[in-house]
Amino acid sequence: MKTHKINIRTKTKKYSIFIGSKLVNKINSILLSQKLSFSKTLIVIDKNIPSKFKSNLIKNLKSNIKKIYIFKASEKNKNQRNVDLIQKILFKNRFNRDDCIIAFGGGITGDVVGYCASTYKRGIKFINIPTTLLSQVDSSIGGKTGINNSYGKNLIGSFYQPDLVISDIDLLQSLNSREIICGYAEILKSGLLDSIKKFKYLEKNLDKILDLKQPYIQDAILNSCSLKKKVVQKDETEKSLRKVLNLGHTFAHAYESSLGFSKKLNHGEAVIIGIKNAVELSSKLKILNNNSYNLIKNHIDKIPFNKSFKQLFKVKDINKIISFMKSDKKNNSKDINIILIHNFGKIKINFQIKQKLLKKFLISELNK
Ligand SMILES: NC(=O)c1ccc[n+]([C@@H]2O[C@H](COP(=O)([O-])OP(=O)(O)OC[C@H]3O[C@@H](n4cnc5c(N)ncnc54)[C@H](O)[C@@H]3O)[C@@H](O)[C@H]2O)c1
Ligand SMILES: [Zn+2]
Repeated sequence: MKTHKINIRTKTKKYSIFIGSKLVNKINSILLSQKLSFSKTLIVIDKNIPSKFKSNLIKNLKSNIKKIYIFKASEKNKNQRNVDLIQKILFKNRFNRDDCIIAFGGGITGDVVGYCASTYKRGIKFINIPTTLLSQVDSSIGGKTGINNSYGKNLIGSFYQPDLVISDIDLLQSLNSREIICGYAEILKSGLLDSIKKFKYLEKNLDKILDLKQPYIQDAILNSCSLKKKVVQKDETEKSLRKVLNLGHTFAHAYESSLGFSKKLNHGEAVIIGIKNAVELSSKLKILNNNSYNLIKNHIDKIPFNKSFKQLFKVKDINKIISFMKSDKKNNSKDINIILIHNFGKIKINFQIKQKLLKKFLISELNK
């Protein structure tokens, strides 16, 4: 398969995303082509990555690897403690701003490492090598970094663009089906945000994408990256347009926080339920027409995913969920801001919903 290069140009940085096969093997020539070279490198590697992938990266990277930090990626470990531990390594080894930190893992590893990079001496070089489908289609692009705390999800963070992203599709081979479906959640999100054409492509090729078949998987990654590139280039710091990328996420983040970031519900799984909720609410409020509603609903029902809102929550949890939704970063009043969908490619970013109405809606979702 051909290697694709997507160039991102924001107000703060220009960088490239390479998407293709066997890219870790070619890491040195990619670095050279991007004029990137460092005298010191720290690699943060997700503990669950198969050792053949780890050793392949270490073997092929001809930089001065000062240290390798094995990170046990989980929402609970996406915290300040791990930021401190990683930055301590940078201090101990006297890294300066021209040195580099590489994230080799999924969205959790990328978000934590990006945050470390952005705050260490106000910013050092950062390379992201995403290893999950979710991180290749979404989290590695656009420069959002962050960690969780007891007040909620990703509430501490920064906008910090990487210097390079390498999305090697071969790394996805070791993911289990649960993680592939999590990645599909964000692929579906970008299909909805993009156009009916992109949605129909997903509808037609769902099984092939989930089986990681070529060229469908590479096309799905490319399409999601291209959509995100367009949005991020127009609105890097989420003043307005970028909010569309949060479709389903106000719900999703509140569910993850309410469950205390338990492994019961991964981010991507929460996103599928959140998109379902947003689509349902859009239809109830007559924002989304019946035809499109049925198309989207039938597609979501075809995703081999069997968790539901009502399996995970009870009526007594609703107030807690709403209070997490209130602390979402997108809110600035006492009403709750939800992203709704008008139609394919047409998103409503500033729908303010009264708490009472939201509560009624969530209870109706539980009683389905
Ligand atoms: N920054 C952004 O713009 C953005 C966008 C979307 C999501 N996110 C964040 O991304 C996170 C979710 O990312 P994720 O779904 O990649 O989760 P993750 O990083 O936890 O990875 C999922 C699981 O797969 C394992 N894993 C990673 N690579 C593997 C591989 N190649 N083979 C086998 N196992 C592997 C991990 O250890 C983990 O258990 C959330 O915290 C979410 O908030 C950020
Ligand atoms: Zn997400």
